[in-house]
Amino acid sequence: MGYQNLIGALLLLITIAGNSTSTLSLTTSNGSGGAGGTSSSSSSFGNVVVEEPEFTDVIENVTVPAGRNVKLGCSVRNLGSYKVAWMHFEQSTILTVHNHVITRNPRISVTHDKHDKHRTWYLHINNVHEEDKGRYMCQINTVAAKTQFGYLHVVESIFLKYVELVASLN
Ligand SMILES: *[C@@H]1O[C@H](CO)[C@@H](O)[C@H](O)[C@H]1NC(C)=O
Ligand SMILES: *[C@@H]1O[C@H](CO)[C@@H](O)[C@H](O)[C@H]1NC(C)=O
Repeated sequence: MGYQNLIGALLLLITIAGNSTSTLSLTTSNGSGGAGGTSSSSSSFGNVVVEEPEFTDVIENVTVPAGRNVKLGCSVRNLGSYKVAWMHFEQSTILTVHNHVITRNPRISVTHDKHDKHRTWYLHINNVHEEDKGRYMCQINTVAAKTQFGYLHVVESIFLKYVELVASLN
């Protein structure tokens, strides 16, 4: 369904946005002991140890009244040259990739805390609307993409109700 397309589109985006240096190229140096057995050499690149990125915390579920600003945090370590993306699951929308805002929604922005040992990537949603509710996914573009998500619940704003009420009385 839409989710698969989302990942495909995301990978494409990252391929376009990222530079070619982000792909790790392993130069195969010929061993001098050229014994014919070339059995599974994948583990023989002993000196290239690449730690996979991983999430260091869960994404909090948040409930906010409409009209508020909210931020969701996704904490990652060993990100290296991988990228973090934020998506809205139900809307099948890619919101941000790395520092870039992909969605045209002007209320969305992204920041990250680079002084944090475990980098936290914040998705900011200003002036939350009812339709912003749902599942927000944070994804790392590892070969097998790593994903976690949190829920945003939007409740009616008492203040907005009041404004509407006052307006209706005039
Ligand atoms: C590796 O060794 C093979 C066979 O010994 C040789 O044909 C090939 O050119 C070598 N490759 C490199 C990159 O040295
Ligand atoms: C958020 O809500 C979902 C579904 O209600 C739940 O499975 C998950 O554990 C919650 N996450 C946190 C961090 O509380």
